[in-house]
Order: sequence, then C-alpha cells, then structure tokens
Amino acid sequence: MKDDIDRFGMPGYAAHTYGDAFADVYDEWYADLDDDDFVDTVLAALPGSAARVLDLGTGTGRLLERVAAARRAGGTPGDELTGVDSSEAMLALARRRDSLAAATLVHGDFSVALSDGPFDVVMAGYNTLFNLPDDDALSACLGLVAGVLGESGRFIVDCVMPPRDGGGDHVGVRTITASEVVLSVTRHDAEHRRITGQFVQFTESGGVRLRPWSVRYLSPERLDEIATAQGLALVARHGGHGDSTSRHVSTYARRS
Ligand SMILES: C[S@@+](CC[C@H](N)C(=O)[O-])C[C@H]1O[C@@H](n2cnc3c(N)ncnc32)[C@H](O)[C@@H]1O
Repeated sequence: MKDDIDRFGMPGYAAHTYGDAFADVYDEWYADLDDDDFVDTVLAALPGSAARVLDLGTGTGRLLERVAAARRAGGTPGDELTGVDSSEAMLALARRRDSLAAATLVHGDFSVALSDGPFDVVMAGYNTLFNLPDDDALSACLGLVAGVLGESGRFIVDCVMPPRDGGGDHVGVRTITASEVVLSVTRHDAEHRRITGQFVQFTESGGVRLRPWSVRYLSPERLDEIATAQGLALVARHGGHGDSTSRHVSTYARRS
C-alpha cells in the first residue's frame, strides 16, 4: 500500500488528521449546515420498531444525535446507534452528548473494519465518504457496508458534486473579527479529482493554528459503479445533475 503522503495528496496527512484538526471547532463552524434532507432520508428509511443504525465518520455525533432526537420524538425508542470515527478527539465530543449515552462509539477506520451487522441503515453524512483517499479504500468501505446491511437495509450518503472549475490554487478569507482571522487555502488537483486545503487560523490569544483537510471527489455515476461492484444497488437519489445542486443524497440497498 502506498504511504499516506501519496494517498491523501498532502505530506503528513493520515485518516485521523481531519478529525483531530477540526474537533474543537467543528460544531461551531458547521452549525448552519443545511442537511435536513439527509437526516429526513435516513429517518424515512428506518422501520417503525427499534432499529440498528451505523454512522460512518460520526465525528462529534452531530447527525446521530439528530436521528436519536427525531426517533424519540416520534415515539420509537430502543434503537441501537453505532458511530465509527478515526479521530479520538471527535469521539470524545460525541461521548459527551447525553442523547448518545447508550450509543456504541468505536475508534477505527471505516474502510478497514465495521461493527457487526445487520444494520437497518448505514449512513455517511456531509461528504464523509470522500474523506477516503482512493478507489481502493472506497471499494473496501463499500464492500464492508454491503456485508453489514440487513436484507432490507439502506446505505445513505450525502456527497458533493464534482466542482466545475478547472483546478488550481486559491486563498480566501473565512473569518475576520477584531481578534481572529481565518484564511482558507485550497489546492484543486483536477487531474486526480482531489482538493486539499488548510484553514489557517490566527488569534491574539492562541497564535497560529493549522487545520488541514483532503477530499477526493467522484461523480455520482462513478460512485454507483464502485458501489455496484461491491454488491450495492442505487435505489434513490436527489440533488446532483438534474437538480443543479452542489450535492446529492443517494440511497443504496444490497444487490440481490
Ligand atoms: C466531514 S466530518 C463529518 C462528521 C459527521 N458525519 C457530521 O456530518 O457532522 C468527517 C468525519 O469522518 C472522520 N473520518 C475521516 N476518514 C475516516 C475513516 N477512514 N474512518 C473513520 N472515520 C473517518 C473524520 O474524523 C470526521 O470526524
């Protein structure tokens, strides 16, 4: 296997790097993410009785908590919720949520091993699947998902559409206050369909903090191809080309 320098397109980057670098700001920076449609798709796929849900790259438990709250409000207690993440820093925050006190939160790489199924829903929100560095890792992950999905289980992903620009480097400003500046420095390698970046945060009190990230994107059609080869079949999709949106929510089932 190639080392992580080649795999993630950024020297020094590994599977836990993103989570470790963003855990302390994640819920604050991404508080206004608009992904209700993803959570609604997950909820609609769950049975009316107690269900088993696996959240890939659960992070701070943001999505799992919303699923737990909606299920409780809907009068469906007794779900078994499992989250996996490669970053202990992220999991430490998920463990602090009261709503996830009974959840199983596992430290691991979701392209290497998954908790035992069968699951009613396996979910990967907010572009988490594209944190995987290459087709090998993505294939391995989707093969594992196919192996832990129940017979009528659903795998639901929220992924960005490929960007339309031709690639290149960009520096922008994310935040300016009297005591803080956050610059966004990105490099889009269109040939390898990868965007790497750093949020460079300057604060009066904390000095400079680097927050690196690396995302490899695929078209929905290529994602379907890999999913099909790993024993999954697309059953529903919204967003993407037809809707001219920058993301799509796609649902897969086990291929019969
Ligand atoms: C973009 S965040 C999304 C977190 C959460 N799903 C949400 O929507 O709030 C991606 C998460 O996936 C985790 N992650 C990235 N690669 C991973 C891998 N190979 N195995 C397990 N977790 C991974 C990161 O640590 C991070 O917490």
